[in-house]
Amino acid sequence: MSKSHSVWVSRPLFPEVLASLARYVDVHAETDERKHAPDELREKLLTVDGAIVGLSDRIDGKVIAGNQRLRVVSNLAVGYNNFDLPALTAAGILATNTPDVLNETTADYAWALLLAAARRVGSAERWLRAGHWRGGMRFDDWLGVDVHGKTLGILGMGRIGQAIARRAYGFGMPVLYHNRSRLPGAIERDCRATWVDKNSLLQRADHLVLVLPYNARTHHAVGAPELALMKSTAVLVNIARGGIVDDAALAQALAEGRLAAAGLDVFEGEPAVHPALRELDSVVLSPHIASASADTRRAMAQLAADNLLAALGYGPDAGHPPALLNPEAQGRA
Ligand code: DGY
Repeated sequence: MSKSHSVWVSRPLFPEVLASLARYVDVHAETDERKHAPDELREKLLTVDGAIVGLSDRIDGKVIAGNQRLRVVSNLAVGYNNFDLPALTAAGILATNTPDVLNETTADYAWALLLAAARRVGSAERWLRAGHWRGGMRFDDWLGVDVHGKTLGILGMGRIGQAIARRAYGFGMPVLYHNRSRLPGAIERDCRATWVDKNSLLQRADHLVLVLPYNARTHHAVGAPELALMKSTAVLVNIARGGIVDDAALAQALAEGRLAAAGLDVFEGEPAVHPALRELDSVVLSPHIASASADTRRAMAQLAADNLLAALGYGPDAGHPPALLNPEAQGRA
């Protein structure tokens, strides 16, 4: 029997999550992973009351122009730089994201990239797989940089940044951070982290992890001038968003030995990766998978579904989506 609301899911999703949606609403779920062109997005959104979308779906004023039906767009990510939030709010369309459920998994991955880049795990594995480990290996081959005991810098100290900081204690690492607003003392103490200005962070950190949201203000927050302040023995990790780092400037700094290594999960213009980065052995590259553990991706998908259902008035949170980004949109449509 047809239900009163229809929703579109722009990416293949776990069957149990789709089933949880289908208890309440008609579900049109894509079965292939692909990027949707703006015109296609617009057409799809005209025929549904809600949608679960991914980071490659840009939901802006043009895509929702004239849409009288859409009530909610639910992002399958905590970052929502793919949303034009003011345009959604002005149109009375609720926007939601998936905070918190991915904090620990993403923090784990930041450490995985930091350790892998510092200790040259990627290039060593490529060398071994290529069959080069036959005879002697020099005692001074494969020298990396240490992580333990060094000063960890974190740029962007939201909940993921804090989860990264808490792990530093086990490595005996003091933590410096920079954030636009300084954290309350209790959180700083819990994270054993000290606020410093951005330039001091760049200069003093032995290794630096980026966890900033992406927006016009943070575009190229780490470019040539910032890289020039960093230690030549430092490792830079970006698990935040492509565009926060100027990838061309980073590749040049690495190639010139002005930075030891980098661990990158996100890229400007991904899935394209700057060709100069691909050429460098000192970079560990991964395809935007920091939140990709089985448990966490399921939790993110379920939260996206719960947000959507609640916005449409279903489920235990009916009327109160657990992760609503624009409460001011409620009642504006
Ligand atoms: C997020 O949630 O913003 C991640 O980058 C996507 O996995």
